Amino acid sequence: MLRTHLCTDLDEKNIGESVTLCGWCNTYRDHGGVVFIDLRDKSGIIQLVCDPTSPAYALASSVRDEYVLIAKGKVRSRGAGLENPKLKTGKIEVVLDGISIENKSQTPPITIGDGSVNEDLRLKYRYLDLRSQKSFKIFKTRSDIAIATRNSLAQMDFIEVETPILSKTTPEGARDYLVPSRVHKGEFFALPQSPQLFKQLLMVSGFDRYFQIARCFRDEDLRADRQPEFTQIDVEMSFCTQEDVMGVAERLIQDIFAAASIDIQIPFVRLPYAEAMEKYGSDKPDLRFDMPLVEVGDLFVDSSNEIFKTIAKDSKKNRFKALKVKGGDGFFSRKTLTETEEFVRKFGAKGLAYIQYKEDGLKGPLVKFITSQNLESLVERLGLALGDIVFFGAGDKRVVWDYMGRLRLKIAQDMGQIPEGQLNFLWVVDFPMFEQADGKIQALHHPFTMPKDLDTQDLEAIQSYAYDVVLNGVELGGGSIRIHQSDIQERVFEILGIPAQEAKSKFGFLLEALNYGAPPHGGFAIGLDRLVMLLTQTSSIRDVIAFPKTQKASCLLTQAPSNVSQEQLQELHIRLQNI
Ligand code: AMO
Repeated sequence: MLRTHLCTDLDEKNIGESVTLCGWCNTYRDHGGVVFIDLRDKSGIIQLVCDPTSPAYALASSVRDEYVLIAKGKVRSRGAGLENPKLKTGKIEVVLDGISIENKSQTPPITIGDGSVNEDLRLKYRYLDLRSQKSFKIFKTRSDIAIATRNSLAQMDFIEVETPILSKTTPEGARDYLVPSRVHKGEFFALPQSPQLFKQLLMVSGFDRYFQIARCFRDEDLRADRQPEFTQIDVEMSFCTQEDVMGVAERLIQDIFAAASIDIQIPFVRLPYAEAMEKYGSDKPDLRFDMPLVEVGDLFVDSSNEIFKTIAKDSKKNRFKALKVKGGDGFFSRKTLTETEEFVRKFGAKGLAYIQYKEDGLKGPLVKFITSQNLESLVERLGLALGDIVFFGAGDKRVVWDYMGRLRLKIAQDMGQIPEGQLNFLWVVDFPMFEQADGKIQALHHPFTMPKDLDTQDLEAIQSYAYDVVLNGVELGGGSIRIHQSDIQERVFEILGIPAQEAKSKFGFLLEALNYGAPPHGGFAIGLDRLVMLLTQTSSIRDVIAFPKTQKASCLLTQAPSNVSQEQLQELHIRLQNI
């Protein structure tokens, strides 16, 4: 190697040593003829100093930001009062006796390491954005996680198998990215939304324990924790119960966190889906704080308000939820109450009723619509005390769960009630097999999930062997025990309204495989990017992917997607409409 040390390998114990360092000029200063260069490499920064008597002086004084340097010199103490406590190497400096400029740089369009620069510009020059120590740390953690994953799963007897990228549609609920075939006119490959179908086939092959750090592609609306191209730690195993699979996932997560020097306790809490929705309005509740939703519909069945009364009477379809904010009355001014109402309206609330516990009694728009006896019961049920405020959500249960769950989270965030540095893991279990969405029955996870009992009339009451692992309110991963018998699989397709012909053309290969001795099996997948986000305390998924896409699913660095030549289109038998 050209270097003897990385910049931050050096400290006071190296004083007097001759060293060779390689890196980039982070900053350059000339103080009364003495040149100071902050040299940066992946480990951090060290100060180089060069006075006019040095043989390196002429070259050193021509250095500018981001020039690539090989610097030779002697380590010395900076001396009292000249130390820089912000730098790991702040007590020392290297006195140059030789320097080579390996490459010059134009003035960079972004300041390296300045996360406040416009993100589009940072993504366009992502290779410069990544030159910072902060980025390097994130990708080192990402690499450590991948290595810990491989070690942990190998120890548990799993083998790594690669599955195809040019593939067929996978039913994970998003749109497919399609790739036209040149050889097969008019036909398309789909990029995998997950390796789901292939990992099940590997179980039919008797591989018994498979894993893959797999790239997945989903054309869906992007959010802060979603990318069109992302990575899963994907696992499948045979002859196992749901508890066995969850046990493997827990041990893997424990090993991954241990690699980041974080000790976590397993097993995680198990929370049934129904309870998660009723108490927290979410299937990925953040349990670092409590603040549960409490059902109070029974106290409004004889309300003087007709709308409340009607809602409260249909307790199968509707919910009437109360959210007590302990000591929250002082926090909500008239203005913040209006803002809070606007917030829930965005998620389908018709309004936001509340009750405040003031010195002179219970106040607020809802008080006049509840009988005094029921008001007393409400105070008791919620354990209301002076200074509390209670918000109410009433209406269709899915809408109420959603906006009250979001409100719970927002209030805890706004009031600073979410403890920092705490990791709260849980499993959400007993998911419904089916859900009504857009007027049709759909699989809540995917249609290969094993239902608990298909003979129930009420489809929405059928539970499945599906489970999600949640950390601090983020869905980290999920999985299920799969259907391994073709008659059950066909029945599920039938319920989902997928005609036999369509099922055969889309997943015929899997259905056929189930007829050749498919063992009982199940698995899970963990979102690697989300895991890295949580471990590096990063709020945008783009920061943990080396070359990410924008919110509009494009790459600003390469300008992809982009036009292709007429010849390429012709080869692929594609004619573009006027767009
Ligand atoms: P699922 O669709 O729940 O399950 O995905 C598993 C995990 O992958 C992550 N994830 C994403 N991360 C970033 N961007 C995205 N667009 C994105 N979509 C999903 C999440 C999620 O929890 N085949 C099943 C797993 C199984 O049943 O074994 C599957 O893909 O962290």
